Amino acid sequence: TEWTSELRYLPYEKWNATYKENLKKTVAQSKWRLAYHIQPETGLLNDPNGFSYFNGKWQLFYQSFPFGGAHGLKSWAHLTSTDLVHWEYEGLALKPDTPFDSHGVYSGSALPIDDQLFLFYTGNVRDKDWTRHAYQNGAWMDTNGTVTKIAQPLFPEDSHYTDDFRDPMIFPYNNGFAMVIGAKNLEGEGKILTYFSADKDVKNFKQLGELTFTTKPLGYMVECPNLVFIDNKPLLLFCPQGLDKNIKEYDNIFPNMYVVADEFDIANNELINPSSLANLDEGFDVYATQAFNAPDGRALAVSWIGLPDITYPTDTEGWSNCLSLVKELTLKNGELFQYPVSETLNLRQKQTKLTAGTTNIKSTAYELAVEVPAGEVSTLTLFANEKNSRGLLLTIDANHGKITLDRSNVGIPFAEAFGHVRTAEVSKEKNITVNIFADTSVIEIYINQGERTLTGRFFPDTDQTYLHLKNIKTASFYHLERTNN
Ligand code: FRU
Repeated sequence: TEWTSELRYLPYEKWNATYKENLKKTVAQSKWRLAYHIQPETGLLNDPNGFSYFNGKWQLFYQSFPFGGAHGLKSWAHLTSTDLVHWEYEGLALKPDTPFDSHGVYSGSALPIDDQLFLFYTGNVRDKDWTRHAYQNGAWMDTNGTVTKIAQPLFPEDSHYTDDFRDPMIFPYNNGFAMVIGAKNLEGEGKILTYFSADKDVKNFKQLGELTFTTKPLGYMVECPNLVFIDNKPLLLFCPQGLDKNIKEYDNIFPNMYVVADEFDIANNELINPSSLANLDEGFDVYATQAFNAPDGRALAVSWIGLPDITYPTDTEGWSNCLSLVKELTLKNGELFQYPVSETLNLRQKQTKLTAGTTNIKSTAYELAVEVPAGEVSTLTLFANEKNSRGLLLTIDANHGKITLDRSNVGIPFAEAFGHVRTAEVSKEKNITVNIFADTSVIEIYINQGERTLTGRFFPDTDQTYLHLKNIKTASFYHLERTNN
């Protein structure tokens, strides 16, 4: 398929049944389908949206173009779960079917209000001249899952900003509702704006202006801002596009960054004593992470494992991208830690102890835990073939405090302009623990219980079921599997 603009924006009802059936078959034949990560049934998945807890279940939505591995006309696909690891697909919750979202139901968030779930999203619209308009829209989902859109945008377009204005994230604050949103101003600079509704009316958001959290310019656009609180400290997650690498080094086309601060001073619309910009993930493919403060007290996050403007080898198989495991965010001595929620243990099947050497583990969906003593260097070849001439190379250097992931020799190359190697750094000459969550064509590596993370896609061949461990005394291995779907 050649993804012309006409095809990308074809109305959903124009895709015929035969096309959709064939697409399902093509997707089913892919050798890179995942065992326990959220992936699209067909088509393209991008940002997680509307992550929340409502009606006794975890609610999660994602950006979906159901008709192929391309960025086309977007909807919100809906998933529910009772344990954050087994997800039920509930279909498309928001489709592009009004004059205020005709060219895509773009990203946003959700918040339970009274007995409904409020969905707050950006409607992408192209007018006759293909000029873009960004509307900030709302919808209500009731306990039966029925969604009713609010007919008019919640506030008017702002002439001080361009049509790059999207991704509202709502959260309860000071007896009202606060919201942060990404924007590009008329000078072409990326900004995060704050809104507030003191009377808890979603139609009454007032703009507080630009959120101050750095003195540095943030490139030409900021996407997907999120503000959550951990131990009362604000954590701001965001995706700056076009950020100068002298401000903060990053390797991917666009980074997903964060800042932790002491306080959110809403009166001055400012984060007090903010940290400098930091990368959320040191790997290859994390973007558009969405976080929220769950009613059980945890700060939970889920990331898109994929990047804008990058083509992936599965695109031509009719599906693209996946979401990360659900991660709990914590602060230890002011440092951000991210680790899969404890419910992830529900996926463990049986434990095996492995020692150095080559093992055919006959599984492509697993968790592997190793500890490297201070001063030692261990290497792991994951998804290796029998001869160990191919594989995903992970080097854990507990002398220099460096963990390096090299995907140059594991399979089909992609995103080559951005390099094949990523490195995470931790304290030198200290033991390093590494917990690896591997799943067929995606890997999430958690270092020191989440002090650093390295996430990425890779596309191996089916004979690469071996694991090669060098200078490792013991490793714990668990096959991981979803048990009820
Ligand atoms: C980020 C993003 C958002 C937008 C959505 C459209 O990946 O570009 O800014 O709302 O994707 O799918």
